[in-house]
Amino acid sequence: MRRGPREPDWGAWLRSWDEQQESFNPSRERRFEAMLDVVDATQPAALRVLDLGCGPGSLTARLLDRLPRARSTAVDFDPVILRVGQGALRRLNSRITWIEADIGSHAWARGWPPGRFHAAVSTTALHWLSPEALRRLHRTVARLLRPDGVFLNGDYLPWDGRDAGLGQIAEAVRRSKYGRLDSEWTGWHLWWKRLGREPMLRPLLRERESRFAHHRGSSPHLSLDFHLRSLRRAGFRDVGVVWQEMENRVVLARKGSKRR
Ligand SMILES: C[S@@+](CC[C@H](N)C(=O)[O-])C[C@H]1O[C@@H](n2cnc3c(N)ncnc32)[C@H](O)[C@@H]1O
Repeated sequence: MRRGPREPDWGAWLRSWDEQQESFNPSRERRFEAMLDVVDATQPAALRVLDLGCGPGSLTARLLDRLPRARSTAVDFDPVILRVGQGALRRLNSRITWIEADIGSHAWARGWPPGRFHAAVSTTALHWLSPEALRRLHRTVARLLRPDGVFLNGDYLPWDGRDAGLGQIAEAVRRSKYGRLDSEWTGWHLWWKRLGREPMLRPLLRERESRFAHHRGSSPHLSLDFHLRSLRRAGFRDVGVVWQEMENRVVLARKGSKRR
């Protein structure tokens, strides 16, 4: 489909999004792949997936390209980032349901039937949630998954205070391997500043600004142990790390099945 004269080059915005995310997470693609390996090996071909904090759809796009019978429900609370995703992923939009909702709130999935999804996935997003909101989200995801459904969260999940020494070693390895990486926010701020110059997006950007005036940024990262405990409490059975590079990890949680 041809773009209108004032329409942003959505594909270019998605590519530069991916570049800025990789600037602080060079193993991002390997992390995506590890998550999709689990989904691919454990779920049926015609599966329904929930992508939480989907951004412009980077993970959803990789999932739908790899699994041609899959469908994704992609949720984010940012109207601008959703617009970028909708524009950039037109070729896949018949298999994506984009939903604007705050996954930290109480009500975002109210009324959704239980057992609706085979898998729920999330990358670099859940560190925005407070401890209470993350616990609530884990319970909601457990309800929305089918028996034997899987939840995969790829994020920076640090060791807790007891293992501060491990965290220091991880940081030293990261510095020696990758040199001086950008912080998460350097590329992110620049990307948003450049996107802000797109005339067609101005009304949505104004809406975003007023809506998120109260959002000061993400919470301090909750520890790996916090995530594992909260997932078990929410009713998941097989819970653990299935991929990691130092503190950059993928946590898998499988919903218990009555059959096992
Ligand atoms: C760093 S981006 C990652 C996006 C995408 N998952 C990726 O890996 O490229 C974090 C995303 O989480 C979304 N997000 C943060 N808090 C959220 C919330 N409470 N509800 C819905 N989305 C949220 C942000 O709007 C943003 O798009």
